Amino acid sequence: MDHLIASHRNRPTDDPIFSLDREAQERAKKGESIINATIGVLLNDEGKLSLLPTVNRLIKETPETEWSAYAPIAGLASYTQSVLNDLFADLPNLRPMAIAAATPGGSGALRHAIANYLEAGQALLTTSAYWSPYGTLADESDRKIETFNTFAQDGTFDLDALDTAIGRQLAAQGRVLLFLNDPCHNPSGYSLSDAEYTRLTALLRRHGETGPVSVLIDSAYAVYAADGSRPLRHLGAIADTVQILVAWSASKTFALYGMRVGAIVAVVPDEAKRTATQAALSYSCRGTWSNCNRGGQSVVATILASNEIHAQVKQERSNLVAGLDRRVSIFNEHATKAGLRYPRYDGGFFVSVFDDSPKARGAQMRAEGVFVVPQATSLRVALCAVRESDIPRLVESFARPLAAQ
Ligand SMILES: Cc1ncc(COP(=O)(O)O)c(C=O)c1O
Repeated sequence: MDHLIASHRNRPTDDPIFSLDREAQERAKKGESIINATIGVLLNDEGKLSLLPTVNRLIKETPETEWSAYAPIAGLASYTQSVLNDLFADLPNLRPMAIAAATPGGSGALRHAIANYLEAGQALLTTSAYWSPYGTLADESDRKIETFNTFAQDGTFDLDALDTAIGRQLAAQGRVLLFLNDPCHNPSGYSLSDAEYTRLTALLRRHGETGPVSVLIDSAYAVYAADGSRPLRHLGAIADTVQILVAWSASKTFALYGMRVGAIVAVVPDEAKRTATQAALSYSCRGTWSNCNRGGQSVVATILASNEIHAQVKQERSNLVAGLDRRVSIFNEHATKAGLRYPRYDGGFFVSVFDDSPKARGAQMRAEGVFVVPQATSLRVALCAVRESDIPRLVESFARPLAAQ
């Protein structure tokens, strides 16, 4: 007799990235010289988690009752309001139309978007290279995932492919939910330019005039980009035609990965629709995790509500960003010289190197003690976890000819 329902009986037992990470750690413990570029957390050059001292201090200073008590279902008002104030600081015309609900990290926001902007059985749309939990999140909510080609022949974002895919989905399922992880796309490393946003905005407006098109900006890595507010600045201009959503996360923003603090943000110009959206998102909170970590929200609210504390945190974070940027330029210098093929990469935790045989390449590198994540047409490198001094060896490993299979 099977108690587990049929569709859940063959779930994968392990996440491929976490099992590669485990092997890398086990081999390193046995004394092997390992480069572990698998997991997306920012490590310093000693291999320790990079943290922000002021955030750590606030965690300790937050009273016990803030940690122990329940939070309101859609989040502490001080938290959601300060996230919105910060996100829309330079877009005051959008701020009154924006609402938010607290979620466990950006992942929770992605979950709520899928459940509220697609009917069961419909598919979200994203780039062909995508963060694999997008697929898991869709599957878990009985939705699907469809993709469009990420890069055109000239290496730019393939807006023609996106245009076609939106048209196809509108015709097939009558609505579109586009996940756009920008800037610092995981896994490719790419950030769209202003020119690309100008075209993107125009095509979204055109489609948005014919059917319900929702765009979720997955801003997980925004603070690691030179211009993290670019997506909202451009897409904010079409908020009257297209549903603009943001998956906001404290994980990378404040190096609070395990605290599970995030928010789904929606810009809804019409007041009645805004009220209905807030209700739908709150209902989703109640129907999934009920409410989120109150202490974590309280810490983030304290940071964002004070110009002084926020400035201090930004200052501390700028050291982390500068360290990562140094790795990015060393990677670019060595990878260009070695002739590696990869998208424009000017910041962020990850980059992907194109390869004709990603599996074989990944296995060869792994045998050399260099752990990266093979994907369909490339291998993902978590440069966030690689010491500066290890980058030349990492690139050499990519550049070595593949041994005969
Ligand atoms: C592309 C992308 N989106 C969203 C997230 C969500 O992370 P969290 O749920 O910790 O905010 C991650 C984390 O790795 C990510 O890489």
